[in-house]
Amino acid sequence: MMNRVARIRGTGAYLPEKVLTNQDLEQMVDTSDEWIFTRTGMKERRLAGPDEFTSGMGAKAALAAIEDSGLTVDEIDFILVATLTPDYIFPSTACLIQQLLGAKKAASLDIQAACTGYLYALSLAKSFIESGAYRHILVVAAEKLSSITNYKDRSTCVLFGDGASACVVSSEGEGLAIQSVRLGSDGEQAELLIQPAGGCRLPASAETVAGDQHYIKMAGNEVFKHAVRRMESACKECIDAAQIDELDISWVVPHQANIRIIDAIAKRFKHLSPERVYKTVQKYGNTSASSVGIALHELRKEQSLQEGERILLTAFGAGLTWGAALLQAQR
Ligand code: ACO
Repeated sequence: MMNRVARIRGTGAYLPEKVLTNQDLEQMVDTSDEWIFTRTGMKERRLAGPDEFTSGMGAKAALAAIEDSGLTVDEIDFILVATLTPDYIFPSTACLIQQLLGAKKAASLDIQAACTGYLYALSLAKSFIESGAYRHILVVAAEKLSSITNYKDRSTCVLFGDGASACVVSSEGEGLAIQSVRLGSDGEQAELLIQPAGGCRLPASAETVAGDQHYIKMAGNEVFKHAVRRMESACKECIDAAQIDELDISWVVPHQANIRIIDAIAKRFKHLSPERVYKTVQKYGNTSASSVGIALHELRKEQSLQEGERILLTAFGAGLTWGAALLQAQR
């Protein structure tokens, strides 16, 4: 049987223009630039406009990724969209993006794995390609987190931003080979990070709106501890699965939830200088599913990756969910 290799052959990102700074937040809730920066590493984040939605931001990132891949929209076989802020509960945001792109032959599917969604989507794309089922898969991660953020709750509203990322995963062409992916979940901790209302347990009602139950609720401290532990172990499993050594990694691209979480992960990679743990948290905050893809796209644009260089992606989010993926630059 032919040995197919799934590779990322194009990436893209889209960030809305409007910037929300720490100083802006000081006017909205009882917080300070100093608190936000020292506790999270964030200085600013982006906000989508009132007529800008997850589908539209995702489509813009997708078009950039398709152009970067050298393919055309008509060649896309499948669209996988990772988001926790879909335009609607149904139909899927993937179908809306399919329509916006005019990707007529593509099948479309949403994935709900919160901040780990990009890695869950990559894992599915890898399997689809390696099985021979499809040749060109568009992975999109897009979030309008501002639509579910309570701008009266200082413990969450300083953290989140809007944005989108995308990549094209193909069976052919130059790019970043997806060498191994490791994923995990723990539904026991589902309530640590949750949007309580709007589903079938608590359908939208005057009471749920009055009780702010359509907003993100997070037990930040608890989540923090799980995030560090789970991403560390996912990275180790992913490296072991590829039968390589930590020394073989050139870049680590972690989920951009908090600089202190990123620094804790970075400590694990003793041979890597801190600049090799890629960060966008200071300028975009936490964009949930989109965050790893935005960072990977910016890394590819800033650095000319050499043949053979390895990049480790890792993410963590609601569910709880977590994962890691190992990529290698190949011509
Ligand atoms: N400004 C000023 N003070 C604040 C703010 C704020 N914005 N927010 C909280 N505080 C206060 C608290 O009220 C508390 O005060 P108290 O001691 O008087 O009670 C104090 O600061 C400390 O609060 P903690 O919650 O203990 O602060 P911590 O250092 O844990 O930082 C944070 C909070 C940034 C949320 C951190 O816990 C974190 O990053 N958690 C992980 C987030 C994450 O990884 N999420 C996963 C992915 S997101 C997704 O899936 C959608």
